[in-house]
Amino acid sequence: MKGVILAGGLGTRLYPLTKITNKHLLPVYDQPMIYYPIQTLVKAGITDIMIVTGGNHAGDFLQLLGNGKEFGLNGIRFAYQEGEDGIASALSLARHFVGNDRFCTILGDNIIEDDIRPQVQQFAAGDLGAYLFLKEVEDAHRFGVAEFGSDHQLAAIEEKPKQPKSNFAVIGVYLYNHSVFDVISTLKPSARGEYEITDVSNHYVRKSACGYHILNGWWSDAGTFESLHRASGLVKEMRRKSFGKGKVHD
Ligand code: TTP
Repeated sequence: MKGVILAGGLGTRLYPLTKITNKHLLPVYDQPMIYYPIQTLVKAGITDIMIVTGGNHAGDFLQLLGNGKEFGLNGIRFAYQEGEDGIASALSLARHFVGNDRFCTILGDNIIEDDIRPQVQQFAAGDLGAYLFLKEVEDAHRFGVAEFGSDHQLAAIEEKPKQPKSNFAVIGVYLYNHSVFDVISTLKPSARGEYEITDVSNHYVRKSACGYHILNGWWSDAGTFESLHRASGLVKEMRRKSFGKGKVHD
């Protein structure tokens, strides 16, 4: 299994913070945002990773992460996304890196508490084409939302539906096999002009080749002021718990 972290985009919802740096280099409590998806991959046993980024601050990632040794990585590759035409488009840049492998891709602003190693291992050994992680939320209309069939299998994913058919959001952690790159190459841009990851996942849902797991622990994105602040609070609380008691940082 390989890992691909998508850290391009403009981060306009965090202006002016993102005028002078890339969103994924901003702090989430005590670490730069990009550390969290790297740690999620390493915990899951994935040590060959690629980071896709773009814009004016791409060089800062190299300065921050070096060769990835500090995280226990075998190595980090970088790809540069010209423009910001969507998540699926960023992912397509990982085609050669992934080769014929299976892989886990994480949106660089998504932070999760759970260890996904069991699902990664299950996917690596199985024959599904895709695997999604879901989390129950109160504001499902903001996300890609899972619709379930009578057999509890995924029936469809609806992108930001006005009337969600469930409260289960599809989060920014996905497992795919290499056929995903052929799927991406058939996509057409959505109404907002982006190549959408939801269209990719729906391809596998339609073929009954998409599994899912509902997260137990917390999940937050960190792409708005509100969620960035919430993510910092959740990490702080996690640090406090894992250190047992008292203060973690003075
Ligand atoms: P978004 O939050 O949807 O887009 P964005 O990061 O450009 O932010 P904003 O909407 O505030 O302008 O993207 C989620 C993640 O997907 C983001 O953290 C990085 C990744 N991404 C890319 O790698 N390339 C892209 O072209 C886009 C749009 C997103």
